[in-house]
Amino acid sequence: MSKIIAVHSYKGGTGKTLMSVNLAATFAKAGKKVCVFDLDFRAPSLFAILKAENSEFWLNDYLNNVYDINKVLVDLSSRLTGEGKFYAALANPGTEAIRDMSSKDRKWEMRALGRLLSLRETLLRDQKFDYIVFDTSPGLQYSSINAIVAADFVVVATTGDRSDVDGTKRMLNELYNLFEKKTGLVLNKVLDPTATAKKAEWSAKIKTNYHVPLLGILPCFCEILRAEGNLIFVQDKPDHPFTKIMGEMARKIENNEVN
Ligand SMILES: Nc1ncnc2c1ncn2[C@@H]1O[C@H](COP(=O)(O)OP(=O)(O)OP(=O)(O)O)[C@@H](O)[C@H]1O
Ligand SMILES: [Mg+2]
Repeated sequence: MSKIIAVHSYKGGTGKTLMSVNLAATFAKAGKKVCVFDLDFRAPSLFAILKAENSEFWLNDYLNNVYDINKVLVDLSSRLTGEGKFYAALANPGTEAIRDMSSKDRKWEMRALGRLLSLRETLLRDQKFDYIVFDTSPGLQYSSINAIVAADFVVVATTGDRSDVDGTKRMLNELYNLFEKKTGLVLNKVLDPTATAKKAEWSAKIKTNYHVPLLGILPCFCEILRAEGNLIFVQDKPDHPFTKIMGEMARKIENNEVN
């Protein structure tokens, strides 16, 4: 079963953060105990989206071996309706912290990987979390590779942009094959309004071009841009088509239907 889900992409701005938050919130709304991790230390953003600016303890401190993971987790369950539990582990947005994280050496990254791998025991086994969702930096930074290695399932986001498509293909071939991770591709910001209706056709195309299964097609929604990152969409807009697509993606991951 896929318990740890990493959301990754080759290029920036492909919707990783949007999907990480909303996938995690979808699981939590369905009654699960979930934590979303901001592993984008280059440009932390979950603290702003989840309105947790006043946090004192950061995921950086956990990876630096300063604090236990429980000290770092922020309980945001009250933001959602339902019986589920919704936590976040936030990256420190301070300038010093960003600089510090970008200057880590390989040895530190190896230890950080060990800390990520140990979440399987602390959070999944001991504290009965159902899912952990890793939001990552784009490209092949160590923090993202660590997230992929520690995950059971990788959601790869891409847009139709030429450079994005080519880079994503290369990354899937070279990097993902190496780790042999269960993977699903999400086509995001799709402009063709008929795309979701022609899913089977797109699915076959994706299989041929990327050699990975299609997890979902997300149209470009003006409402998402208009919200300016102020909403947890699946909570605040339950009837929006985006919420339905997130629900389908979560179900496919949960039931292992990605093939
Ligand atoms: N399907 C969509 N329709 C409309 N806007 C979208 C969609 N997906 C993402 N966006 C918007 O695109 C911008 C980038 O999204 P997001 O921050 O989630 O990407 P990201 O991959 O996390 O970026 P980064 O690599 O910089 O971390 C945001 O303003 C987001 O609201
Ligand atoms: Mg992001």
